[in-house]
Amino acid sequence: MASESTPPSIPLPQAPPLSIPLLGLGVFQSTKTHASVLSALSAGYRHLDTAQIYYNEPATGAAVSEFLKSHPPISRSDIFICSKLWEVDLSLPGMPPDFESMAHPPPGGGVWNTTAARLGYTSYTREEAIKGFNRSLESMGAGIEYIDLYLLHNPRPGPTARLQAWLGLQEIVKSGKAKAIGVSNWSKRHIEELIASEGVYITPAVNQIEFHPWCQHRGLVGYCKEKGIVVVAYSPLTQGTRLGDPVILEIAGRYGKTAAQVVLRWCLQMGVVVIPKSDKEERIKENSELWGWELAGEDMDRITALDEGISGKLGEWDPDAWE
Ligand SMILES: NC(=O)c1ccc[n+]([C@@H]2O[C@H](COP(=O)([O-])OP(=O)(O)OC[C@H]3O[C@@H](n4cnc5c(N)ncnc54)[C@H](OP(=O)(O)O)[C@@H]3O)[C@@H](O)[C@H]2O)c1
Repeated sequence: MASESTPPSIPLPQAPPLSIPLLGLGVFQSTKTHASVLSALSAGYRHLDTAQIYYNEPATGAAVSEFLKSHPPISRSDIFICSKLWEVDLSLPGMPPDFESMAHPPPGGGVWNTTAARLGYTSYTREEAIKGFNRSLESMGAGIEYIDLYLLHNPRPGPTARLQAWLGLQEIVKSGKAKAIGVSNWSKRHIEELIASEGVYITPAVNQIEFHPWCQHRGLVGYCKEKGIVVVAYSPLTQGTRLGDPVILEIAGRYGKTAAQVVLRWCLQMGVVVIPKSDKEERIKENSELWGWELAGEDMDRITALDEGISGKLGEWDPDAWE
């Protein structure tokens, strides 16, 4: 059910008739996921972005169920939940028990074996992908009977692994337990290889990538648009690191908006879905006030000119760098 404050959605051309809300709440590194999801839903958000590796699928699912119970006109189909399969099974013995533990060495020292390369084994197989998806779904609780969008979190375990995992995800769509499937951190080459492979009959509905004025992945975004693959921008606020940019602040001042709102509005006008994270109720609301105004062409151009290409990215995640 839409209300005045409900952000609009756009179609997912590769998963008709499904649409994706243009604004979602990201919950990576959230220290109070349950409360933040409730704040976001109360502020009109209808899209949540979680992942196995965030260790907060249960809190996300529980908050959605609680919100639905207390807001009877709103139904499960009004809310869009995205989660992601990690490259190894985080329920195995010896894995970090929670997100906070990953910041410290495991008991006995060394490093956590949370990557396929370190563990020497991956969940990106046909069978393990199905099991992994079921773990995600079950962890969200009884109120969540399906996931709207399920992603392969990264292409890193390599071509055979990602193809096999994709074949598993296609079966999940057939079962109705996921409405759409997609990828994250994939390059054009990864996607082209996948869709040319035998047995692949679903094109990814989205590619979730780092995207903000300083890292625009122009070639990749253009390719995704051509293919009807919706681009979802992660870290759209640069995790707060570039919001003091003088160009952004000057534009924000003229529009009477905040730097975060200007950056998010620029992403939307670039045709990209945004999933900013915040654990602060007032920022969750601020980040949702993106409609009823727009950036003029010349201001869009000034922000677009801030692109630093791949050197403007925040972390290690360079889609082109992986096999
Ligand atoms: N697929 C992937 O590999 C991948 C990778 C990274 C992220 N993601 C997804 O994308 C989501 C968003 O990315 P992100 O969490 O990396 O970063 P982000 O949304 O760009 O930034 C979040 C940071 O900005 C702060 N912030 C939020 N709103 C603000 C505002 N209005 N003014 C000033 N600061 C503000 C937050 O602090 P407070 O919480 O204190 O407000 C937090 O420190 C994630 O939560 C996750 O769902 C996906």
